[in-house]
Amino acid sequence: MPRKRIAVIGAGVSGLGAIKTCLEEGLEPTCFEGSDDIGGLWKYVEKIEHDRPSIYKSVTSNTSKEMMAYSDYPFSDHFPNYLHNSKIMEYLRMYVKHFHLMKHIQFLTKVCSVKKRSDFSCTGQWDVVVETEGKQRSYVFDGVMVCTGLFTHPSLPLENFPGMKRFKGQYIHSKEYKSPEKFREKKIIVVGIGNSGVDLAIELSHVASQVFLSTRRGTWIWKRVWDHGMPMDTVLFTRFNSIVCEFCPLFLINRWAENKLNVQFNHELYGLQPRHRFLNHQATFGDDLPNHIISGRVLIKPNVREFTETSAIFEDDTEEDIDVIIFATGYTLSFLFLEDDSKILDSQHSMFKFVFPPQLEKPTLAFIGIIQPVGATIPTAEIQSRWAVRVFKGLNKLPSESSMMADIRKMRGFRFLNGPRVTYGRVPYVDYMDEIASEIGVKPKPLSLFLWDPLLAKEVLLGPCTPFQYRIQGPGKWVGARGAILTQRAWIIKPLKTRVLACHQPPLSMPFWLKSVCATFFLLVLTLVVVKGRSH
Ligand SMILES: Cc1cc2nc3c(=O)[nH]c(=O)nc-3n(C[C@H](O)[C@H](O)[C@H](O)COP(=O)(O)OP(=O)(O)OC[C@H]3O[C@@H](n4cnc5c(N)ncnc54)[C@H](O)[C@@H]3O)c2cc1C
Ligand SMILES: *[C@@H]1O[C@H](CO)[C@@H](O)[C@H](O)[C@H]1NC(C)=O
Repeated sequence: MPRKRIAVIGAGVSGLGAIKTCLEEGLEPTCFEGSDDIGGLWKYVEKIEHDRPSIYKSVTSNTSKEMMAYSDYPFSDHFPNYLHNSKIMEYLRMYVKHFHLMKHIQFLTKVCSVKKRSDFSCTGQWDVVVETEGKQRSYVFDGVMVCTGLFTHPSLPLENFPGMKRFKGQYIHSKEYKSPEKFREKKIIVVGIGNSGVDLAIELSHVASQVFLSTRRGTWIWKRVWDHGMPMDTVLFTRFNSIVCEFCPLFLINRWAENKLNVQFNHELYGLQPRHRFLNHQATFGDDLPNHIISGRVLIKPNVREFTETSAIFEDDTEEDIDVIIFATGYTLSFLFLEDDSKILDSQHSMFKFVFPPQLEKPTLAFIGIIQPVGATIPTAEIQSRWAVRVFKGLNKLPSESSMMADIRKMRGFRFLNGPRVTYGRVPYVDYMDEIASEIGVKPKPLSLFLWDPLLAKEVLLGPCTPFQYRIQGPGKWVGARGAILTQRAWIIKPLKTRVLACHQPPLSMPFWLKSVCATFFLLVLTLVVVKGRSH
């Protein structure tokens, strides 16, 4: 039988993982990438294009390197724990080189349409039309992996802000923001308190004359740097915690998390206290936010009721003069190349475990990375690919359409409220990884592991749930997995050791010579007492 040919759309982190997975399983991938480079969102470019993601210059990851690696390709130990976008690109280039992925990618090639072939119900094949330099070509594929990302189409709900037409200043969406220089001495309002909104407010406040951060619902603020200076995700996202959460009532988890975050700073006092409980909505990273609020450089404001020519009027009737509005209002999801075949997707983009549209006659279309795990994207997208490829090959079967729909309805009620916007697919990291891993048969089993490798079992259970856990056994097993897991803590600490302390004692403890003197003195006194006691 000829090898199955698979189209991979997009060469961002999801697409690269998809190509690698196809090769690993003996399929023949062809990746189409609209731009001239790999990396997708992580590739910083000055130019802003409407059909590509775009980031600002300073974007640094909010997931740490051990947690966000491909499962069989750890970041080198010298990489810092949180990575600037250029460092992530460096890692991706190493990955592509190591697994020889480049020859499978066609750059500057945009996918225009993906349609079922007329004999789809028996072959499951697709007609894929691509465009390079204005010329169109058409291909037939046995499977399609859509890896086009979530952060391309800005959501700019101007109609929610009366008076926008009147406003004389400048306004942009956060997608158009690159760096702070242009905003020197300006009065700026950032609308929206997601990760981008908070990042931009902090960065701009160094040059702006004033920054206002407007939020309708408030948010819980997480820190990248967690207890004892460890990366937050490596402390919280462990298998052990995931088991505890399963048995623990939600209100207790909420109370624990909220107390913990309020000890850093009181969210109510700082005007950030959300109406929702911790687990009901996305939290935002903002290690520096409290510093900027307490020094008055960022002022938290409620929702904007309307804009005038030169100011914003808020829902609490206060008014502030402003020069620039930045809408950090997130993104919408769309797949333009699928649009004319409306039967492929329903309006809610309901997909079985966020991967397979349930209503297709043949499961030969998979969405990879169209999910926002509370955790890292790279390993989540990669495990989706590993599953998808097995389904393409017929090694795994999907349940009936009705049971898939039932599962989708269950997922919608999943802890996080899924809105139409980018709250789409917010799932707890370990739970989701385990769920897909069980489909493939690679979910780690710490209990049986305790019998033959207690050291490994202990780290799998109590340590950070790193992606290498899903390569210990089963299909796609990687011999390096054990080593990667057992060294992960050392690799977290390694890049911090740039000033290695020669003396390993804590600085306040007594020096050795003093200890010796004290000990001698003590012994002397003791001897004297004993001798004296005898002489009586
Ligand atoms: C500011 C910001 C910070 C983030 N930080 C983190 C983080 O720290 N950790 C984390 O895990 N996640 C983070 N994310 C989430 C992020 O989406 C993922 O990390 C990751 O970039 C998703 O990659 P992707 O490959 O799915 O999509 P993308 O990176 O968006 O790549 C999609 C690719 O598809 C191409 N493409 C699209 N349409 C077509 C077409 N029709 N034909 C051909 N090619 C096409 C695009 O050119 C692009 O290269 C962040 C997101 C943002 C916006
Ligand atoms: C990191 O930031 C991106 C972009 O705002 C967001 O989508 C993602 O959920 C964040 N990661 C976590 C673990 O919250």
